[in-house]
Amino acid sequence: MTADLRRSILAAIARDGSNVAARLAEQHGVSRQSASAWLAKLKREGIITSSGVGRGVRYQLAVSASVQEVYERAGLNEDRVWRGLVAPQLADLPPNVRDVWHYAVTEMVNNAIDHSGSERISVGMVRDALNTSAYVADEGEGIFLKIQRALNLYDPREAILELAKGKLTTDPANHTGEGIFFSSKVMDAFDIRSGKLHFVHDDWGTDVLLERAADAPGTLVLMRLANDSKRTLQEVFDQFAAPEEYTFAKTIVPVKLAQHEGEKLVSRSQAKRLTMRFERFQIVVLDFAGVEEIGQAFADEVFRVFQQAHPGTRLLPINLTPAVEKMVKRALGGGIPKQDHLEEH
Ligand SMILES: Nc1ncnc2c1ncn2[C@@H]1O[C@H](COP(=O)(O)OP(=O)(O)O)[C@@H](O)[C@H]1O
Ligand SMILES: [Mg+2]
Repeated sequence: MTADLRRSILAAIARDGSNVAARLAEQHGVSRQSASAWLAKLKREGIITSSGVGRGVRYQLAVSASVQEVYERAGLNEDRVWRGLVAPQLADLPPNVRDVWHYAVTEMVNNAIDHSGSERISVGMVRDALNTSAYVADEGEGIFLKIQRALNLYDPREAILELAKGKLTTDPANHTGEGIFFSSKVMDAFDIRSGKLHFVHDDWGTDVLLERAADAPGTLVLMRLANDSKRTLQEVFDQFAAPEEYTFAKTIVPVKLAQHEGEKLVSRSQAKRLTMRFERFQIVVLDFAGVEEIGQAFADEVFRVFQQAHPGTRLLPINLTPAVEKMVKRALGGGIPKQDHLEEH
């Protein structure tokens, strides 16, 4: 079995554990018997497990490592959690993957130590043949409420917009507000749950907001990364640096996060909410994906009023519908700034 075939089988199982032999047979143009033989081999190797029989059989990736620990917050430091609990489970992964985990785990544990006020902090990690997932949980005030209180926001959902912008800290004397921004971008999946809210940075690189049914105490951060990921910390930092500079100078803001359920972006106050703290960046890419239309006052406030007050910040709108583009052009009194120096986004 080639490494590619093995990966493709494991990916098929990770996607959906049912009907696997039939799906593999179809995908690879082999008989069901051959596909079943592949699955039997991976089972013998202990890489996958199955439950049920016959057509109802379901496959799962086997857990190859699993650790968890509950710590007292007082006196804890993030290096102890990294070296004592997580790093030993990841020793055989490629250096770039270990570096990404080192960064994200220590940043999130440091957050729980410095910001949560919780008595206890739980950290856990699970690994299978494809991915490693980790969580950091506390029983403190909750991240969105803490940010809402510190920034005096009207609605805790605005905390998610602020986190997505980056450079958000409630403790500027001791922190820089980069941990969540970069951790969410180096992972394949990154998810913060707190209260009824849920901040997700998914595999496709977009920030989405889901409401959770039940109020849960504290803050839960979930992260997942492929064990063979090629991503490096440096390339992600570089993506948000200004050209020829090494500092965090550029951000990408999903404008849709400023648009709450059933609302349209029409008012100057919505625009001010969106542009809050933009002046800390040299470049702000405004991603309008999912925003169908905007109002004239909103567009004027962002693209003319804010821009004139803050000439040091370049606003680069992307993913515009024709209706949004018309409003942006009108506010600018002509063309939309060129974005030729932007990489992939
Ligand atoms: N576990 C947590 N509980 C409560 N608030 C948190 C938690 N983690 C992060 N925060 C809040 O989110 C902000 C942003 O976190 P982060 O991006 O790591 O930046 P920094 O730690 O540099 O402030 C923090 O300043 C804090 O207000
Ligand atoms: Mg932090």
